[in-house]
Amino acid sequence: MAIKRERWLNRPAFVFAAIGSAAGLGNAWRFPYIAYQNGGGAFLIPFFIALFTAGIPLLILEYGLGQKMQAGAPGAIARIKKIWEGLGWWAVFIGFIIMSYYAVIMAWTWNYIYAALSVAWDGKVLEFFYRDILNSTDGPLQFGPISVPVMIGLLLTWFVIWFILHRGVQFLGKVVLVTVPLPIILLLILSARAVTLPGAIEGLNYYLQPDFSALLDYNVWVAAYSQVFFTLSLGFGVMIAYASYLPRSSDINNNAIITALADAGISFLAGFAVFGTLGYMAGVQNVGVESVVEEGIGLAFIAYPEAISLLPFGAAFFGFIFFLTLLTLGIDSAFSLAESVITSLDDKFKVNRSILVSLVCLFGFLLGLVFSTGAGLWWLDIVDHFVNNFGLAVVGLLECIFIGWVYKADKMRKFINPVSDVQVGVWWDIMIKYVTPLILGISIILSLSERLVVPYRDYPTTSLLFGGWAVVLVLIPVAFIFARKKASRPDFLDRPSD
Ligand code: PHE
Repeated sequence: MAIKRERWLNRPAFVFAAIGSAAGLGNAWRFPYIAYQNGGGAFLIPFFIALFTAGIPLLILEYGLGQKMQAGAPGAIARIKKIWEGLGWWAVFIGFIIMSYYAVIMAWTWNYIYAALSVAWDGKVLEFFYRDILNSTDGPLQFGPISVPVMIGLLLTWFVIWFILHRGVQFLGKVVLVTVPLPIILLLILSARAVTLPGAIEGLNYYLQPDFSALLDYNVWVAAYSQVFFTLSLGFGVMIAYASYLPRSSDINNNAIITALADAGISFLAGFAVFGTLGYMAGVQNVGVESVVEEGIGLAFIAYPEAISLLPFGAAFFGFIFFLTLLTLGIDSAFSLAESVITSLDDKFKVNRSILVSLVCLFGFLLGLVFSTGAGLWWLDIVDHFVNNFGLAVVGLLECIFIGWVYKADKMRKFINPVSDVQVGVWWDIMIKYVTPLILGISIILSLSERLVVPYRDYPTTSLLFGGWAVVLVLIPVAFIFARKKASRPDFLDRPSD
């Protein structure tokens, strides 16, 4: 049966969408603090090595798989070997969990955009974040009521996602023509402002001063690889789904290189905006940069807003620009995760797309409510840690084994090269078959053994069992149920002919 599939408008639409998915909240807050924690400027070495030895090869693999098989992760895998289909569903469902809390971070962002107009956090950044916005409790087991501002933000986020996705990938391709360049322009404005502030240089030194001894620490390498996977949106079926809407003759290798380098550039740029501003704040408060830097989420929602409120002029303006940057960076990553689920379900089951999109959005919203309670922040932190440290690495490892050994790397390369502008050599097979799986395997063992000995932070064990282990593990049987379900589309297993 002929397979008629929706298509991107043109090549730029696809490339923009892929960059949009890759460049997200992870670039704005995760990259800068991971870099300074892991050797500052020297971190760029493991980062680029990880980008070239694992990031780009796996991105090529995901583009190749989606494009060749013309289906999202579960369908593409099933068309190669039916019994592996569950892996695709597992990846997609893990992505959905990420989506559910990612949308909550976007919900905070809406609140900060609004608050920026009056610099409402001025003089009380901690109180503003924990009490006024999140209404946080003391720990994961004290739920407390759902925060109204977060819920409103969450509704807005899901409405925007629904609005963009229910019209299909053609429309999505138009949206990213705005949501990809806009945050880049905004980041340029923010960086220009940041580096011209007095004291900025101290912040930049802190961010970039190389500590080469860090390269001898394996944790730095694990951090580099996991940052590369997260930032390139690998392992959750997103890039497979996006590539499945390309004609089979489209370029693969060059698109992957462009996506990866653009994404890395955006991360690097975000570091200037963030650390330049923090350097200024440290100067004003007459303290060292290390005492104003926050880890993780706190960097964007506590340290940066505080620095903004100390600006000599234009605090409201720059606060607004910063949170608008986060919103436009995040929104296309958020809908790419939802699209991965929608594509996968749409490939297998005959449902009207509009209804499917509405259901997925509704379900995502409901799941997000858990992260909007007073305990939401703690659950978000736990789930994020486990999903990214284990889920992602395990999927990546299995993906490499599946394509490298079951399907055969050279067979995939023989499909990829003839359609691509630039060619990949046997090195690609070596990366996919040996290097990437080996690195992922080692990092899984290392983080697993650490986690089994030392629980994550000082959270109660019950919350770690439920939010961490259960979330990752329970999705396995769910994935197998979906894999065993009979497809209602007759062409679900039809491989496009070579
Ligand atoms: N790449 C996105 C970021 O850096 C996050 C993401 C991960 C999006 C996985 C989609 C899939 O923020």
